[in-house]
Amino acid sequence: MAKYKLINFKTLGDERGSLIAIEKGYNAPFGIKRVYYIFDTKKGVERGFHAHISLKQIAIAVKGSCTFVLDNGKQREEIQLTSPNQGLLIDGLIWREMKYFSDDCVLVVLASEYYDESDYIRNYDKFLEMVKDDS
Ligand code: TYD
Repeated sequence: MAKYKLINFKTLGDERGSLIAIEKGYNAPFGIKRVYYIFDTKKGVERGFHAHISLKQIAIAVKGSCTFVLDNGKQREEIQLTSPNQGLLIDGLIWREMKYFSDDCVLVVLASEYYDESDYIRNYDKFLEMVKDDS
């Protein structure tokens, strides 16, 4: 079943500053096989425009902010990521778009699987068909 949710990470801090740790089974519901990050995004750029068949991901704006559009085939919702202590978990058939990247945005994505183009659905009509079959 397709789902997404915001995770609030506990910030470990002392007089030196802050630290967040992400660990399988503690605050991440999957083992992390791949990490990638998106940065230096040009003004007005929108990215994503795809869903995944089985990949699970957690997206974190470790610096700056950006907005995710999440679409389950019936409803679209916008979620703004503005803080390194929140992560957006996306697990299942969700169409995602990303926009409104601040100039300084560094968006880190933790992924459950290695990069595999065959796990992508890049056609919105195909996505809608797959969501229908999934429900
Ligand atoms: P893409 O997933 O289309 O970016 P986004 O959805 O964020 O707009 O990826 C852009 C390019 O980078 C594409 O050619 C595939 C490549 N890529 C990798 O080689 N490895 C990866 O882990 C990712 C996420 C992308």
